[in-house]
Order: sequence, then C-alpha cells, then structure tokens
Amino acid sequence: MSIPSPEPAPPAALEGFGETGGPDTALITRLAHELWSEIAPVLDAPGLAAPAVAPAVPAVPHGLAGAYPASTPEYAPPVHPATQPAAPAAPGGTDSGAAGASNAHPFGEPRCDAFGRPVASPAPVRLPHQPAPGPESFATPSYYFIREPAVPTPAALPAASALSGPAFDVESVRRDFPALHQQVNGKPLVWLDNAATTHKPQAVIDATSRFYGRDNSNIHRAAHALAARSTDLYEGGREKVRQFLGAADAKEIIFTRGTTEAINLVANTYGQKNIGAGDEILLTRLEHHANIVPWQLLAQRTGALIRVVPINDRGELILEEFVRLFSPRTRIVAVTHVSNALGTINPVESIIAFAHARGVPVLVDGAQSTPHLPINVQALDADFFVFSGHKIFAPTGIGALYGKAALLESLPPWQGGGHMIRDVTFERTIYQHAPEKFEAGTPDIAGVVGLGAAIDYLFKVGIPAIAAYEHALLEYATQALATLPGLRPIGTARHKASVLSFVIPGVPNESIAKHLDQQGIAVRAGHHCAQPAQRHFGLESTVRPSLAFYNTNAEVDALVAALHELPRK
Ligand SMILES: Cc1ncc(COP(=O)(O)O)c(C=O)c1O
Repeated sequence: MSIPSPEPAPPAALEGFGETGGPDTALITRLAHELWSEIAPVLDAPGLAAPAVAPAVPAVPHGLAGAYPASTPEYAPPVHPATQPAAPAAPGGTDSGAAGASNAHPFGEPRCDAFGRPVASPAPVRLPHQPAPGPESFATPSYYFIREPAVPTPAALPAASALSGPAFDVESVRRDFPALHQQVNGKPLVWLDNAATTHKPQAVIDATSRFYGRDNSNIHRAAHALAARSTDLYEGGREKVRQFLGAADAKEIIFTRGTTEAINLVANTYGQKNIGAGDEILLTRLEHHANIVPWQLLAQRTGALIRVVPINDRGELILEEFVRLFSPRTRIVAVTHVSNALGTINPVESIIAFAHARGVPVLVDGAQSTPHLPINVQALDADFFVFSGHKIFAPTGIGALYGKAALLESLPPWQGGGHMIRDVTFERTIYQHAPEKFEAGTPDIAGVVGLGAAIDYLFKVGIPAIAAYEHALLEYATQALATLPGLRPIGTARHKASVLSFVIPGVPNESIAKHLDQQGIAVRAGHHCAQPAQRHFGLESTVRPSLAFYNTNAEVDALVAALHELPRK
C-alpha cells in the first residue's frame, strides 16, 4: 500500500526574491510595511483593534495545491464509528469492529452525551457560547492590547471590584476549583503558575471520575454497552474540541498527549514528507522548546535548515526580519500564538496570510493562547493548530492537533498500531483516514472526557468574559509590579497576555520563588523551556507569575506585598 504522496507544487512566484534568488531589499521593505500596516492598528488603537476582517487568503494556498489532494480515491470517506454499519471481519483480526448503525444501541442502551446522559441524536450541536466561525469572533483578542505602563499611583490602579461584574463573577468561579482552597506553608494558596499548568474545576474532576466509575471501556472495538458509551464520550469530546477551535469538521481534530506530541506529529509527517535537504523551516525566537527541538530533529535527519525570526527588546517579533528570512526554500512556518516566557501575542493571522500568499503552510502553537483568547482556526486560516488540555483546566496527558482535512489526508501516519488501520496483512497495511490514521493504540479516553468537560466549563463561563477580565487583571498586575524598586520586567510587548516575567538584579530568581512559596504564592523561576527567548535579554532565567481567570486583584496584591518584603543584600 502506498500512501498518496503528491509533491507540493513549487512555491508560486515569490515576491521579495530577485532573479538570482537573493533578497530584494526594496521589496522586502515594502512587504514588511504592508505586513506592519495590517498589524499596526492592533498595536495602536486604544483598547480594541484586531482586524475586523480576517485576511483574505485563498482557502487552499496556491503553492500548496499539490499538497492538498481533494481526495484519496482508494479510501471510502471516514465514518464515525458510532454510525457506521457493522463491518465485515478484517482478515485474521477483530480490529475493524463497529457499533450499530442506528441511533439506539443494538443492545438497547441509549446513546449518551458527554455526561453519560441519553441523547436522541448524535448530531453536533453548537454550544450557545461558541462564537460563530468568522472574523467577528476573531476580533476578540484585542482585549489583550495593553497600554504603555504608566508610572502607577495607588489611585490609578483599578479597584478589585471593578474587575468583577455581572458578566464575570470571579468569586463564583473560584468556588468551582477545589485546589485553590488550601493552605500552603500556613498561607492561603495563591496559584500564579498557570502558564505551566492550570487547576481543574470540579466539573472536570467529576466527569473524569464518572467515566472510570461507570463508562470505562476501550473504544470502537466491541458491540457492548460500555464500549458504545465510551466511544460516544470520546467522539463527543472530539466534537467539543472542534467547536472550541472553530474547526469545520471533527475529523480535523487529532487527539495527542499535548502540544509537544502534536508538533512532533507534524514534524514527523508533514515535515518528513515535504521538507528536504536545503529546505528551510522558519521559527521565531519566542518559541517554546517544544516548537524548536522537533524541527531540529527533522533538520538533522533531512539536511533542512532552521531560520529564526528575531525579537526586539519588548519581546515582539521583528516583522521586517520575518519578511527577510522568508525565502523560496521556506517550507513551513511554525510560530507560537502567545509566548509562554514573555506573554507576547504574535500577529499570527498576518503571518499566516503572508505565508499563504507564498504557498507555505503555518503551524500555530496555541498552548498559551487557548487558555486566554477565543480561537477560530478557520478565521485564522491556520494549517495546523496545537494545544494542551492541562493549560485549559483539563487533565494532563491530553491535547489536540487541528489540521486542515485535505492536508491531513495527504500525510502518512506516524505511529503504527491498532485502530489506525483498515486492513493488515504481512505484506501491507491499509490505513484509516484522519483522525484515526494518527491515533494508533488505546487513547487517553478519560483525558478526552475531562477535556470535553473543561471546554463545556469555559463556554459556560464565557471566553470573551474571561478575556476581558484577564486583560484588566494583567494591567492591574503590570502596574502593581512596577511599584517594586529595581524590578525589571522581561517582556513588555504592546499586545500581551497573562505572563508577568521579571528579574530583580542582585536577587537570584530561585530565592525569589522560594521566598514567595513561603507565603503560599506559587510562581515559576527558570528558563520556562524558552532559552532562546530568555537569552535575548541576556538572561538564563526569570521569575514568572502567570495569570488565569480565577486569579484576583487581592492575589496580585499579596504577590506585590511579599515581594516588598523580599530580603535583599
Ligand atoms: C508555548 C508552549 N508551547 C508548547 C508547550 C509544551 O506543552 P506540553 O508540555 O503540554 O506539551 C508549552 C508548555 O508550557 C508552551 O507554553
């Protein structure tokens, strides 16, 4: 069995490169200005400013046409296992089993929703809080515009009460998170390590334990009631992720262990197939190691080259350099949406539009944007988008890769095993379509159930309300930290989310984090798996408080008060 492997068409005529392939500096300047003029309003408008209309780029970038086959004719279209008719037994095995065709389970057990409640129809339902795909929903990141920090006076700081309101009741939200209500070192826990991982609402804990207490079964492989229930829960989780990301089709969602595994999947499939010796992978200095090392491993295997877009001293990408580094050999751009070390929100929609106009796909690392920003992969026109469940209040060990359907279909599998096959002999294997093709073996079913519950929870609270609340909290915290003598903020991008990295010269970061821990305040000190970003500032590590929507002004006050008491030489 050979996987259809159309070669990507050579990139269409590349603006920015002269006849010789060398850079045309005048054109680069013009392109950078074009890119900048798209982005500048976002940075300059007071408070609001993401582009109202998503950049108009072709749905299938012209230069990628060859990599996006319309169909793979030797396969039947993928069928949801819960609705496909009973398949004939695969030769020599039982792995092709499917449940009954109707909505009712063949043994009388009704189909269940993600909470195990019987449902009449498995048809996907748009959740009330899910923004419709489209440019309007994508305009919301403008909540994260952050003004130049003014020299704060106590009167200038917003009152805590101003941050809570009918749209968002932080005290009510906090009651949903049991882990927040504990003492650490004799003090109430203040959890400001959200960029590393988040705490879980009771709804997620309950959904996960209900799965093990009632529904536990392997999926897709047996005609019994519990298998049908857990299959429905698992596929229901996929539908929730589809809605969370604004994807067109649930088959574009592949479950992974998290962001790291999702990027490795893309590097090992798209990269292995389409990137060869002398080709270039365009990254940025803001990347987490998870979006560097998989590409380095690929480059070592294939002879490809890594190019890196530098940053300025605020921690923003230098877009002129992005344009300059983009070359006829660029085969993929992989960029973080939000920097985990600095909090910078990157203009990924413009980066994608620029790359698509030159026939190059873009992977967006959404590990730090999904907890804070409404996401719509169709409005972004991202080719790949990855995130981790544990950063959005779901369990560890589960996450997802979004990939455009045609792109996923064009890729080879990366791990072999059960569930990803249609038929196996010793001579050859016929694979399933996406997503099954990329989900070999027994997946983290309980993790998917927990992820679905976390998404339900986020929709219930309201992601736009979360974004607005966090924006105010970030402004408050930025101004409050600026009152500390000698504190050097690291990462002062004008468009920023959640992260408040800093150093205090003369005091080791580790000592600061330990001192805060004594006060019950959890922050991270270290390189945050983003050493290239730290080193831009001449640092090996920072102290990084990071916010979530359950944090409060009072917790920020506790942080600042504890820092005022920091022993200094
Ligand atoms: C921006 C970014 N990318 C990737 C990762 C890796 O995520 P995970 O360890 O959940 O795979 C992280 C984790 O901190 C991150 O912040």
